Amino acid sequence: MTVSNGDAKPAEVSVTSVTDAAAVPSLIKQISALGDNFGENTSDETRLSLCLKARALWKALETPRETMIRHCWGQPAAMCALTVGTEKGIWEYLAEHPGPFKAAEVAKAKEIDPPILCRLMKHLAAMGYLKELGPDTYERTNFTKAMAVPIIGQSYPPISGGCNAALDQFSKWAHKTGWKTPNSISDGPYQMAFNTELNFFQWLQANPPYGQQFNYHMGGYHQGRPSWMDPGFYPVEENLVKGFDNAEGSALIVDIGGSIGHDLEEFYKKHPNVPGRLINQDLPIVIGQIEKLDDRIEPMSYDFYTEQPIKGARAYFMHSVLHDWPDETCLQILSNITAAMKPGYSKLLINENVIPDTGAHWETTGLDIMMLTLLSSRERTRENWEDLLSKGGLKISGIYSSREGAESLIECELA
Ligand SMILES: C[S@@+](CC[C@H](N)C(=O)[O-])C[C@H]1O[C@@H](n2cnc3c(N)ncnc32)[C@H](O)[C@@H]1O
Repeated sequence: MTVSNGDAKPAEVSVTSVTDAAAVPSLIKQISALGDNFGENTSDETRLSLCLKARALWKALETPRETMIRHCWGQPAAMCALTVGTEKGIWEYLAEHPGPFKAAEVAKAKEIDPPILCRLMKHLAAMGYLKELGPDTYERTNFTKAMAVPIIGQSYPPISGGCNAALDQFSKWAHKTGWKTPNSISDGPYQMAFNTELNFFQWLQANPPYGQQFNYHMGGYHQGRPSWMDPGFYPVEENLVKGFDNAEGSALIVDIGGSIGHDLEEFYKKHPNVPGRLINQDLPIVIGQIEKLDDRIEPMSYDFYTEQPIKGARAYFMHSVLHDWPDETCLQILSNITAAMKPGYSKLLINENVIPDTGAHWETTGLDIMMLTLLSSRERTRENWEDLLSKGGLKISGIYSSREGAESLIECELA
């Protein structure tokens, strides 16, 4: 590891000057034009565009020193405070006692030494996640109200306690192993950081309640994003329902690694009249964590490294599953699917990111680094997908996408 002399900084950089003064006036004009008629009826596209511009403006205005302090102190400390809030049930407590609150009183009710919670809440207010009404008195914003919703608030503990150490120690791992791309699911950065031989999913499940909280996190990730089953994305009727062999016991969709069934529930809600079985497969421990599931969806314990029990389904579906594994492991998973597919009839639908060569969205690149450090895996480009799937005996029959940064649906058939 190299540590440079603090005095030796390149002469052309001032760490206390605005990062990009020239960009500021134009960004303000663009924000003003986009925001002129902003209201409840503003399109999501305009809102997202405003977010990108506002973020760019903030970054242009900050000095390098301010950005560094925000990264090193502000954000990690906010992550800590939000995680404590979930783990100590503060967000649920505030949902049950709505309105302005004094942090010291909440601390007493939750058996926390008041100065701890007062300091954590003060930081959250300073970061803009609570409204500060007076000394030690706050009101929740829409965001901190949402922290009481499991798919939002429960996301924090498994990331703080079950992921961040792998990101923090990635450089150390890479240094030790000679800066080679990790490709082992049992001996990578995650295993070094958590001193384990278990893979990421096994470790989370072995450390409750992280496994269950991670299921909520996945549910939260998908909220509000364009979904492949929505009109104008993938032709569900034309490509799946038409041509479906409606014999008794036939499956329309088998969701492999479907977690607690949120994707098939959404599918059934949006397409209530489809024929055939809808089957949600995951590891027994995850299937056992399902609290409620529409009657039309069949939960099934299944390990995707073993023979697929449902043969000849119209579609096998995997959402955010193959990105979890390096190519060699994906080929094992794919071989169990292709062996069950009926030639000329079954499709494999892969709901994943297809990373563009330029202009990738930060959610996708962020996820890619999570995959690198947690699972020795990656988000894939079109070329990566073509290469992997052809090795797995499949050909891509279509790639369907909607807006920038959203996942695509890759439709495949047996080659
Ligand atoms: C990133 S999550 C995606 C979950 C869901 N498809 C979604 O998009 O919300 C990956 C899923 O793969 C499941 N999984 C991991 N190993 C598995 C295995 N060997 N067999 C079946 N499912 C597995 C995990 O339990 C988890 O639910």
